[in-house]
Amino acid sequence: MILLTSLTLILLLAILIPPTSPSPSPTSSDHDIQTLKHLKQFRTPSGFRQSMPKLIASVRKGPGKRDWVTMQYIAGGYHQMARKLNSAGGLEEEENQTLKLVVATYKMAESVYVDWLSLGEDDYPQLEYVMERTTVLRHWGDALKSLGMEDEAEMVWRKGVEEGLWKREMCRPEREVEVVGEGKWFYELEEVFETKVVERIRSSIEGVREEYVADVEAGRGPETWKKEEAGLHSTKSWSQLPLYVDGDRKTGVCDERYKKTCEVFGPKNFDGAAKGQVKFSVMEGNTYVRPHAGPTMERLRLHCSIVGAVGADSWIRVGNEKRRWDVGGCFVFDESCEHEVSITEVVDGGEYRVVLIADLANVFLKDFDDYREARWEGGGRLNRRVWEESQDKLLKRSGVEVPEL
Ligand SMILES: *[C@@H]1O[C@H](CO)[C@@H](O)[C@H](O)[C@H]1NC(C)=O
Repeated sequence: MILLTSLTLILLLAILIPPTSPSPSPTSSDHDIQTLKHLKQFRTPSGFRQSMPKLIASVRKGPGKRDWVTMQYIAGGYHQMARKLNSAGGLEEEENQTLKLVVATYKMAESVYVDWLSLGEDDYPQLEYVMERTTVLRHWGDALKSLGMEDEAEMVWRKGVEEGLWKREMCRPEREVEVVGEGKWFYELEEVFETKVVERIRSSIEGVREEYVADVEAGRGPETWKKEEAGLHSTKSWSQLPLYVDGDRKTGVCDERYKKTCEVFGPKNFDGAAKGQVKFSVMEGNTYVRPHAGPTMERLRLHCSIVGAVGADSWIRVGNEKRRWDVGGCFVFDESCEHEVSITEVVDGGEYRVVLIADLANVFLKDFDDYREARWEGGGRLNRRVWEESQDKLLKRSGVEVPEL
C-alpha cells in the first residue's frame, strides 16, 4: 500500500514536468547545491523513494538546460518502482504506466544530454554523480523492450555499440573487457573446462540429484526457498537456493544439506566467479523470464539440469540461439548477452524444473590480471603460464579463432 501511495504521488508529479525544458533561471548555484543533496540521498539504501519527488521538483524549477544527470536518476527511480510492481504481481497496468515514464524520462534526459554535449561546458557539478553510460543505455533499452517496443530498444543499444562501449548489441555488460575470439552464445563443457573438471562435473550430477531429493523428502524443498524477486518474470513460480554468493559459502546449506554439491562446485574444485553464484534455480511450468543481459562479462554461467524434464516448447534463448535442458546434461552461456527463458510445462520428474547454476570466471578474458580478478579466492594458486597453457588448449577445443600475435 505504501508503495502504491508513493507511486500515485510520483505519477502526479511526473505529469507536472513540462515536456520541454523549463525556462532558464539566472542563478544556478543554489539549484546545484540542492540537487546534489538529493542525488546523494538517492544513492543511500532505499533513499530513492524520498528523493524522487525532490528530484522531480528540482528539474521543474531548475535552470533546466543541463539537468540530464538528475533526469537519468528519475528514470532509474521509476525503473526500480516498475520492478517492484512486477514482483508484487497482478499490477501489470501500473507497471506499464511506470515503464512509460521510465522511457519518456530517459528520452528527455538524452535530448538534454546531447544539447549539453554540443555546448562543450565542463562546469557541471552533477557530473559528480553521473551514472555509467552503459547503465543508462541498458536500462533504457530494457524498459522499451518490456513495453514491446523492440525496434526502439535496439536503437538505444546500438548507440552503445556506436559509442564504442560494446562490441555487440546483444551483449551489454556494464564494462566491456577484452576477450579472445568472437565469443559464442553457448559453450559445451569441454570448451571451457579442463578434461578432469568436465569429468568431475558430469559424474557429480547423480550425487547432486540425491542431495536435492533428500532435501525435498526432509520437507525443505523449493516451496520453502526464496522466491526470485528481480522483477524479471511474469509469474511467482521461480525459486532459488544459493550455495555460494560472490565466493561466500552458505555454511548451513552446504554443511547440512548439500555437502557433495558444495564440494564439487567449491573453490578447491571449481574456478568460480568472484562476482557470481552457485545456486539451485527452480521453475514451475508456465514461467516466463523476460529478455535481459547480465551486468558482467567476467563470468560465464553453467547450467546443469538435475530433475524435471521440460516440454518440447520450453527453451532458453541466448543471443540468437535457443537450447533446451536435458536432464543430466549441462551447458555454459555468456550471461552478459541477452537471454530469455520460457518453461511451458514440466512433463516428467515432478512439478519442478531443477537446474544447478554455477558461475565460473570467464576463461576467455584476454588479460591474465582480468582473469585473476574475475576468479574467486580460495582456489589453488594461479600461475600465469599454467593459465595461458590451459587457455590455449580450451581455445583450440572451442574452435574460437585465436588472434595472430
Ligand atoms: C503491458 O505491456 C505489455 C507489452 O506491451 C503488453 O503485452 C501488456 O498487455 C500490457 N498490459 C496491460 C495490462 O496493459
